Amino acid sequence: MKADLLVRGISQLVTSEGSGPKHGSEMRRLRVIEHAALVVSDGKTLWAGPEADWAGQASASIDLGHRAVVPGLVDPHTHAVWAGDRLADFDARISGVPYERILASGGGIWSTIRATAAASSDELIALAKPRIDALLHSGATVIEVKSGYGFLSDAEIRMLQVIRTLSDTTRARIVPTLLIHVPPREPSKRAAYVSDVCQTLIPEVARQKLAKAVDVFVEREAWSVAEAESIFAAAQQHGLAIKLHTEQFNRVGGLELGLRMGALSVDHLEACSSEQVAIMSDRKTMATILPGVSLHLGLPPAPGRALIDAGAALAVGTDLNPGSSPVFSASIALALSIRLNGLTAQEALVAGTVNAACALGMSDAGRIEPGLSADFLVLHGSDWRELVYTLGANPVREVWIGGARVAA
Ligand code: NIG
Ligand code: FE
Repeated sequence: MKADLLVRGISQLVTSEGSGPKHGSEMRRLRVIEHAALVVSDGKTLWAGPEADWAGQASASIDLGHRAVVPGLVDPHTHAVWAGDRLADFDARISGVPYERILASGGGIWSTIRATAAASSDELIALAKPRIDALLHSGATVIEVKSGYGFLSDAEIRMLQVIRTLSDTTRARIVPTLLIHVPPREPSKRAAYVSDVCQTLIPEVARQKLAKAVDVFVEREAWSVAEAESIFAAAQQHGLAIKLHTEQFNRVGGLELGLRMGALSVDHLEACSSEQVAIMSDRKTMATILPGVSLHLGLPPAPGRALIDAGAALAVGTDLNPGSSPVFSASIALALSIRLNGLTAQEALVAGTVNAACALGMSDAGRIEPGLSADFLVLHGSDWRELVYTLGANPVREVWIGGARVAA
């Protein structure tokens, strides 16, 4: 075999086997190759295995000096584009005002919508770029980014155009999502807003290929199940996938709607019941948990352990956003899922790689496998578990995408 690059000196090469979601106990199955090597050709992994078994030729080689290698992480849930800040909310919440009350009184998400409207597209790009860079340096090689701080149709389209421009400025793969976040504050305007979303916004987003999926925030202070159902029906008619923010503060039934309509993922789940945990067993719909939200808002952690024990396929995301999760690191999100949601290190890695890719409808990310883009991380340490153990320092030494080092 002739190759472009032989990467050797890998203490442990860790990956999951096979595409498709890993459910329940499958999430503990990782392939760990000791004293490994990885071979890159045309930006793709050509071969991976014990270093002693490589018998081919490579034009170049590098020695990682006995360091661990894991797949590039996938962050399946971010709101990385926003303007303004939520520091006043932070102060208010610390003195006891709940997130939902701040939202209901026109602050919270509404204040970010106002600040985002006041910023130019160039300003939004300049604000978002360092956030994407931070996620990339933390190991995320695929990053979902939602709109949702536009509210008006034109403003949502503008956010998605900003996300498209942003994706040209980074080597990370950006996956754009249209988020229908909060309803008009006047109840009488909700129905007209939903029909505008269904008849104008979604068709335009699909026509311009600005998003892969439509997300709806189903919650007492946001959209009802019936409203979300109409929005999802329009999304599916236009070939877009669907996903939900649901069961975050209250048990509202978005989870059941997501399962019924074949959502890619149901995200949050901090308030989900044991009956809802049980029905997530063996589903294609991923359960995406966002531990940064529990940490920042002081919500009960989503029942990650119980979901896995019930046979669900779990993914973990940062939910990077100014209001509920100012978490700028994909590896910290995994580290938190162990401390807060009861995942094991193995489960956390699967939740942040192959399963997170499934939550984005992707089967070609989150694994080190011949034929796939050579997207991997070189850690500082020789034991891969440092990725999910470390808090506060970056355990990632190098990020490689398409067989090239893009961040160190
Ligand atoms: O994922 N819950 C709704 N949406 C976001 C928060 C957005 C915000 O507070 O600005 C979330 O938690
Ligand atoms: Fe979110």
